[in-house]
Amino acid sequence: MTIIAPSILSSDFSRLGEEVARIQDAGADWCHIDVMDGQFVPNLTFGAPVVKSLRKRTEMFFDCHLMVENPENYVDSFAAAGADLICVHAEATHHLHRLLQSIHSKGIQAGVALNPATPLCQIEEILPYADMILIMSVNPGFGGQKFIPTSVDKIRRLKQMIRERDLKTLIEVDGGVNGETAKACREAGADVLVAGSFVFGAADMQEAVAALR
Ligand code: DX5
Ligand code: ZN
Repeated sequence: MTIIAPSILSSDFSRLGEEVARIQDAGADWCHIDVMDGQFVPNLTFGAPVVKSLRKRTEMFFDCHLMVENPENYVDSFAAAGADLICVHAEATHHLHRLLQSIHSKGIQAGVALNPATPLCQIEEILPYADMILIMSVNPGFGGQKFIPTSVDKIRRLKQMIRERDLKTLIEVDGGVNGETAKACREAGADVLVAGSFVFGAADMQEAVAALR
């Protein structure tokens, strides 16, 4: 069963709590939280205090995607704020193994994200230590971009790497996911689909979540 994780990046920030309730009511499984620092990506969003406030309003699984430099500096605050999974970019740290250990030491799940230009060999050694690999299917920083088609083959090759090693690592895809691209991603082996504009731009959110599944 595919996990559907709407990104609140495309939501109305003035009513964030209600927007999270709305994705839950629409049948979504996870809440994808895009954290941007204006350094790793050319945009700013929100930090741990926002996650902490939202945590008081829902029990939903918080999938925190950190698009930040020096992600090691944010593990404590996001874990304390109520993140269920912290996903860091392989490009943003020199010590990925140590970072995943530090996330796990908080009793939460750890993911590793790869930009479109970053090859899979970057995570070959870390694969047994990651709960999830996030394949970026757009260049991170903004919602509403077009899906990069070569991402499908990247998902397929990653699925094969995971199978060969007999691992249970989840594959998440993020960027330009809609009813059509979702199908290709699922068939290639994706387990978790992130969608921002497709879900929040839909007239019927429940229908949009169902279309992704
Ligand atoms: C992009 C973010 C995505 C974004 C996806 O940097 O990581 O999660 O919200 O938005 P859509 O689904 O609109 O491409
Ligand atoms: Zn994201």
